Amino acid sequence: MEREGEDDVAGVDSSLTTTSLHHFRDSDDVGFTLTILESMKEDYGLFVWPCSVILAEYVWQQRSRFSGANVLELGAGTSLPGLVAAKVGATVTLTDDCNRTEVLANIGRQCDLNNLNCKVQGLTWGVWDAPIFDLHPNIILGADVLYDTTAFDDLFATVTFLLQSYPGSVFITTYHNRSGHRLIEFLMVKWGLNCMKLIDGFSFLPAQKASGLSGNIQLVEIALNGE
Ligand SMILES: C[S@@+](CC[C@H](N)C(=O)[O-])C[C@H]1O[C@@H](n2cnc3c(N)ncnc32)[C@H](O)[C@@H]1O
Repeated sequence: MEREGEDDVAGVDSSLTTTSLHHFRDSDDVGFTLTILESMKEDYGLFVWPCSVILAEYVWQQRSRFSGANVLELGAGTSLPGLVAAKVGATVTLTDDCNRTEVLANIGRQCDLNNLNCKVQGLTWGVWDAPIFDLHPNIILGADVLYDTTAFDDLFATVTFLLQSYPGSVFITTYHNRSGHRLIEFLMVKWGLNCMKLIDGFSFLPAQKASGLSGNIQLVEIALNGE
């Protein structure tokens, strides 16, 4: 990721002082670059977290699977994974906490800046507002949404509901692994879910991107039990 200095993008809050460039390239050096507006205030939803860089790269590498998919990103923040999904041909809804209007407005700016037509919607985990009943995604994304243990039940209530709303759907999330695999095992049993794939987030990341990141980040694909 490259960061640039002060930006002067029209209409952007003055606290959003940085743009970062994110490159996605295949082995023939064909691909695209996305520009993300960030605030260096370290607000949770206005900064590109490492989990997001890793999940976005995974979407790019699995792009044939995302082309034509109906994708929903939870806790999207600056939305890099969802924007990559849109770029490779998915129909994408980007969501974040209903109460965080600054984050939701910034998601809209990311779409405009990258000429991507995504739906932006408030979706607070564990809250059953009417629009959630119309979503039916077949791929749900979430980067760094497993960080506050007090929010896990609300998050997984929403994820389980969404998985039930579309047969064969999957939740793909990246998270900082601080407890071995016990956390995922616990959540799978509690919510009647099945861990389909669990991989080291750095195992597929190009060296150039990995060099700027650190930590133990895992990527997990989760489905309903029996699917
Ligand atoms: C650590 S940030 C990750 C942001 C982005 N996915 C990334 O990786 O760069 C967590 C995100 O979850 C959102 N969030 C936190 N609690 C939430 C809730 N109860 N409902 C919906 N979104 C929530 C925050 O607003 C924030 O955008």
